[in-house]
Amino acid sequence: MVTPLIKAQNLTKVFSDSNETQFKALDGVSFEVHEKEIVGLCGSSGSGKTTLLGIIGCLETANSGSLELFGRNVDKLNDFELSEIRLSTSGLFFRSIT
Ligand SMILES: Nc1ncnc2c1ncn2[C@@H]1O[C@H](COP(=O)(O)OP(=O)(O)OP(=O)(O)O)[C@@H](O)[C@H]1O
Ligand SMILES: [Mg+2]
Repeated sequence: MVTPLIKAQNLTKVFSDSNETQFKALDGVSFEVHEKEIVGLCGSSGSGKTTLLGIIGCLETANSGSLELFGRNVDKLNDFELSEIRLSTSGLFFRSIT
Protein backbone atom coordinates (compact mmCIF):
# COMPACT_ATOMS: atom_id res chain seq x y z
CA MET A 1 0.00 0.00 0.00
CA VAL A 2 1.30 3.49 -0.87
CA THR A 3 1.92 5.78 2.10
CA PRO A 4 -0.15 8.98 1.83
CA LEU A 5 1.66 12.33 1.95
CA ILE A 6 -0.98 13.52 4.40
CA LYS A 7 -3.21 11.28 6.50
CA ALA A 8 -5.62 13.06 8.83
CA GLN A 9 -7.85 11.04 11.12
CA ASN A 10 -10.68 12.52 13.14
CA LEU A 11 -8.97 15.88 13.77
CA THR A 12 -10.71 18.25 16.14
CA LYS A 13 -9.79 21.80 17.13
CA VAL A 14 -11.56 23.76 19.82
CA PHE A 15 -11.00 27.46 20.51
CA SER A 16 -12.02 29.16 23.74
CA ASP A 17 -12.81 32.85 24.03
CA SER A 18 -12.15 35.10 27.02
CA ASN A 19 -15.41 33.91 28.63
CA GLU A 20 -14.28 30.27 28.33
CA THR A 21 -16.97 29.72 25.70
CA GLN A 22 -15.78 26.91 23.47
CA PHE A 23 -16.08 26.83 19.70
CA LYS A 24 -15.36 23.71 17.70
CA ALA A 25 -13.56 24.84 14.54
CA LEU A 26 -12.79 21.29 13.36
CA ASP A 27 -15.07 18.41 14.22
CA GLY A 28 -13.64 15.05 13.22
CA VAL A 29 -11.86 15.80 9.96
CA SER A 30 -10.43 12.78 8.12
CA PHE A 31 -8.83 12.61 4.68
CA GLU A 32 -5.77 11.48 2.78
CA VAL A 33 -3.67 13.22 0.16
CA HIS A 34 -1.48 11.09 -2.05
CA GLU A 35 1.51 11.83 -4.22
CA LYS A 36 0.70 13.65 -7.49
CA GLU A 37 -2.74 14.71 -6.27
CA ILE A 38 -3.71 18.38 -6.47
CA VAL A 39 -6.22 19.24 -3.77
CA GLY A 40 -8.35 22.32 -3.17
CA LEU A 41 -9.90 23.16 0.19
CA CYS A 42 -13.24 24.91 -0.13
CA GLY A 43 -15.75 26.12 2.42
CA SER A 44 -17.62 29.12 3.69
CA SER A 45 -15.90 31.75 5.81
CA GLY A 46 -15.31 30.41 9.29
CA SER A 47 -15.63 26.76 8.28
CA GLY A 48 -12.10 25.98 9.45
CA LYS A 49 -9.93 26.07 6.30
CA THR A 50 -7.12 28.14 7.81
CA THR A 51 -7.31 26.17 11.03
CA LEU A 52 -6.90 22.91 9.12
CA LEU A 53 -4.02 24.26 7.01
CA GLY A 54 -2.29 25.49 10.17
CA ILE A 55 -2.43 21.99 11.63
CA ILE A 56 -1.30 20.28 8.42
CA GLY A 57 1.47 22.87 8.16
CA CYS A 58 2.59 22.11 11.75
CA LEU A 59 1.99 25.69 12.86
CA GLU A 60 -0.49 24.51 15.45
CA THR A 61 -1.74 21.22 16.82
CA ALA A 62 -5.15 19.58 16.96
CA ASN A 63 -6.92 18.89 20.25
CA SER A 64 -7.55 15.30 19.25
CA GLY A 65 -7.23 12.99 16.31
CA SER A 66 -4.15 11.92 14.45
CA LEU A 67 -1.99 13.42 11.71
CA GLU A 68 0.67 11.67 9.66
CA LEU A 69 2.90 13.57 7.23
CA PHE A 70 5.01 11.51 4.83
CA GLY A 71 4.24 8.45 6.94
CA ARG A 72 5.41 10.07 10.18
CA ASN A 73 3.02 10.66 13.04
CA VAL A 74 3.39 14.26 14.24
CA ASP A 75 0.84 14.32 17.06
CA LYS A 76 3.32 14.26 19.94
CA LEU A 77 6.18 16.28 18.46
CA ASN A 78 7.50 19.30 20.35
CA ASP A 79 7.87 22.79 18.87
CA PHE A 80 11.43 22.18 17.73
CA GLU A 81 10.52 18.94 15.98
CA LEU A 82 7.51 20.60 14.34
CA SER A 83 9.74 23.39 13.05
CA GLU A 84 12.03 20.76 11.50
CA ILE A 85 9.05 19.26 9.68
CA ARG A 86 8.04 22.73 8.45
CA LEU A 87 11.57 23.33 7.21
CA SER A 88 11.87 20.04 5.38
CA THR A 89 8.42 19.20 4.07
CA SER A 90 5.92 22.01 3.83
CA GLY A 91 5.50 25.60 2.75
CA LEU A 92 2.61 27.90 3.51
CA PHE A 93 1.95 31.23 1.83
CA PHE A 94 -0.52 33.52 3.56
CA ARG A 95 -2.22 36.38 1.90
CA SER A 96 -4.15 39.02 3.77
CA ILE A 97 -6.34 41.84 2.59
CA THR A 98 -6.07 44.91 4.75
N1 LIG B 1 -7.07 31.72 17.29
C1 LIG B 1 -8.40 31.61 17.33
N2 LIG B 1 -9.09 31.86 18.48
C2 LIG B 1 -10.43 31.73 18.55
N3 LIG B 1 -11.21 31.33 17.51
C3 LIG B 1 -10.58 31.10 16.35
C4 LIG B 1 -9.17 31.22 16.19
N4 LIG B 1 -8.84 30.88 14.90
C5 LIG B 1 -10.00 30.58 14.30
N5 LIG B 1 -11.04 30.71 15.16
C6 LIG B 1 -12.45 30.45 14.86
O1 LIG B 1 -12.52 29.16 14.24
C7 LIG B 1 -13.43 29.19 13.16
C8 LIG B 1 -12.72 28.76 11.89
O2 LIG B 1 -11.83 29.80 11.53
P1 LIG B 1 -10.91 29.70 10.26
O3 LIG B 1 -10.08 30.94 10.25
O4 LIG B 1 -10.17 28.39 10.25
O5 LIG B 1 -11.98 29.70 9.06
P2 LIG B 1 -11.74 29.88 7.49
O6 LIG B 1 -12.52 28.78 6.82
O7 LIG B 1 -10.27 29.94 7.19
O8 LIG B 1 -12.44 31.27 7.19
P3 LIG B 1 -12.11 32.36 6.03
O9 LIG B 1 -12.67 31.81 4.75
O10 LIG B 1 -12.84 33.59 6.49
O11 LIG B 1 -10.61 32.55 5.97
C9 LIG B 1 -14.01 30.60 13.10
O12 LIG B 1 -15.25 30.61 13.79
C10 LIG B 1 -12.99 31.42 13.83
O13 LIG B 1 -13.58 32.55 14.47
MG1 LIG C 1 -9.05 31.40 6.32
